[in-house]
Amino acid sequence: MGFADFIPSGNQAVDPALYDIENAAIDPDGIMWRELVRLAPWQGKDLVDLGCGSGWWLEKYAGASNLYGIEPDPSLLDAARARTDHATILHGAAENIPLPNESVDVVHARFAYFFPHPNYDVTAGLEEVRRVVRPGGSLVVIDNDTERGEFAELLGRSACGDAQGNTTYARQWWKDRGAETTEVMSSWRFKNRGDLDRVLHLEFPDELADSWLADHPDRTHLSYGYLLHTWSKSNSEA
Ligand SMILES: C[S@@+](CC[C@H](N)C(=O)[O-])C[C@H]1O[C@@H](n2cnc3c(N)ncnc32)[C@H](O)[C@@H]1O
Repeated sequence: MGFADFIPSGNQAVDPALYDIENAAIDPDGIMWRELVRLAPWQGKDLVDLGCGSGWWLEKYAGASNLYGIEPDPSLLDAARARTDHATILHGAAENIPLPNESVDVVHARFAYFFPHPNYDVTAGLEEVRRVVRPGGSLVVIDNDTERGEFAELLGRSACGDAQGNTTYARQWWKDRGAETTEVMSSWRFKNRGDLDRVLHLEFPDELADSWLADHPDRTHLSYGYLLHTWSKSNSEA
């Protein structure tokens, strides 16, 4: 079964093993993770990792009552299922979440689907989240901050479009829907230079990755800003 809103990822699907190395470098001091817990605690609650990819983050959701990983890419489902037996992995997508109405409390979408843009409307995905979340529940979208940190500078220098313009649009899109945006400054920290080199080449054009590495010969880390967009379903909403 395919999903009209499924867009294969250019990193996770291309090289899942390398994307694991990238995920392992994310937020080494847990700064962003603590914000996720503060914004929408999941202890004893039912949680969805929407667009869970090969499931790197699933093991970290200790304490969730029921944990679901939803992923549209069939090539990633087995890896996600092998990651942990604590989660139920379902083939689905943001606009087609295979869960009953009002059956979960918290939804996380980490670098998945929710990239509002003038040419990419994500209203249907938000409506689907509204359907499956219980009153009082929340969606937290984890996205890149394109304005602060060294990773943002790389995004700005890459030919990936108007990164800052896209962020301005996304911030307003979420604000218009009653969501709060939280800025978090964290980092990427790699075990060695080779890992950083390979991940930079996965994420950015070769020329840009090579130039950054040449300008920062001793580095295995860089600063990385996140935007966490938190949308909540009001308690009075049926
Ligand atoms: C950059 S990867 C991130 C994977 C995972 N969230 C992580 O952080 O490790 C983006 C993921 O979004 C998934 N995706 C693509 N289209 C989607 C959609 N319409 N709904 C939900 N997920 C989608 C991709 O298949 C991929 O697994």
